Amino acid sequence: MNDILNDIKTFEAEAIARLNSVLDKQALDALKIELLGRKGKLADFSKAISKVSDEMRPQIGAAVNRLRKLFEEHIASKEQTFASAVKKQTIDYTLPVRADFLGHKHPLLQTVDDIVDIFKSMGFEIASGPDVETDYYNFDALNTPEDHPARDLSDTFYLKKGVLLRTHTSPVQIRTMEKHKPPVRIIAPGRCYRSDYPDASHSPVFYQCEGLYVDEGVSMADLKGVITAFARTMFGKDIKVRFRPHFFPFTEPSVEYDFSCVICGGKGCRVCKNNGWLEISGAGMVDPEVFRAVGYDSEKYTGYAFGMGVDRITLLRYRIDDIRLLYENDVRFIRQF
Ligand code: DAH
Repeated sequence: MNDILNDIKTFEAEAIARLNSVLDKQALDALKIELLGRKGKLADFSKAISKVSDEMRPQIGAAVNRLRKLFEEHIASKEQTFASAVKKQTIDYTLPVRADFLGHKHPLLQTVDDIVDIFKSMGFEIASGPDVETDYYNFDALNTPEDHPARDLSDTFYLKKGVLLRTHTSPVQIRTMEKHKPPVRIIAPGRCYRSDYPDASHSPVFYQCEGLYVDEGVSMADLKGVITAFARTMFGKDIKVRFRPHFFPFTEPSVEYDFSCVICGGKGCRVCKNNGWLEISGAGMVDPEVFRAVGYDSEKYTGYAFGMGVDRITLLRYRIDDIRLLYENDVRFIRQF
């Protein structure tokens, strides 16, 4: 009776080898009938069960059942392979793109573009500088003293001594003035880095946009005019701008500037913490020490400079309340804009 068991073993080896070498659905269907069908080989073995001795019956029964299961699994997996191959072949590359899955600019970069466009329309040119800066461009040339807190390891990412990730876009002022004689009128958007712990209003990487205008007879009134024109184009004609006295090493006098709250119109709300104004960034008249560093004659030329928090402006225009959302790149968030 062991003959039957041996036959089953031989049959199994042959059948699996044939299953493995099947190349298409048609051949698989034929083999399926041959192996599992009512007139198939496995059926013959099943029929033989009734003829064997009582003690052999369970063994042979189990062997036949195991084989049936094995074949069914093999066949199912082959069927799946062929089905997905068919699916791949039937992709129609000539179909039009599904418009609801089109990508678009990230809201942050869209804002950079819009800011740049507004300043370009007022005669500014785009300038840029490297993200990896030296102490000289990021601090020294901008009249920032050796012991200034911004130079601290806790505020600035140093790559090695004297080399750092720029903490603001102001070094582009220096790079531009070194290369060009006045008049210069530039806008310089870019990434900046600070060793800040991320929270709703801080991100270790963020965007700024630097502005600089140097010529004969440039005044603080020009600065206020240009910032106001920008604010109105960006947020609507009712936006007001205010300057508050401040200090920056590279400007004198220096201000911080605010926009009237774009959410409540200045009445007071959660976003402006009920004071009606939103802090945007700093600005001022270029310090003569900065002109000295780039070889400009500060008797002849004056200029204004301003920074701009691009992230802040993005959060305000799209009513987003957490800066981290801008850097996590979750498409479910980005798709909303
Ligand atoms: N660089 C300053 C900052 O990151 C912002 C700033 C202030 C830029 C005054 C300027 C300026 O050009 O004149 O906080």
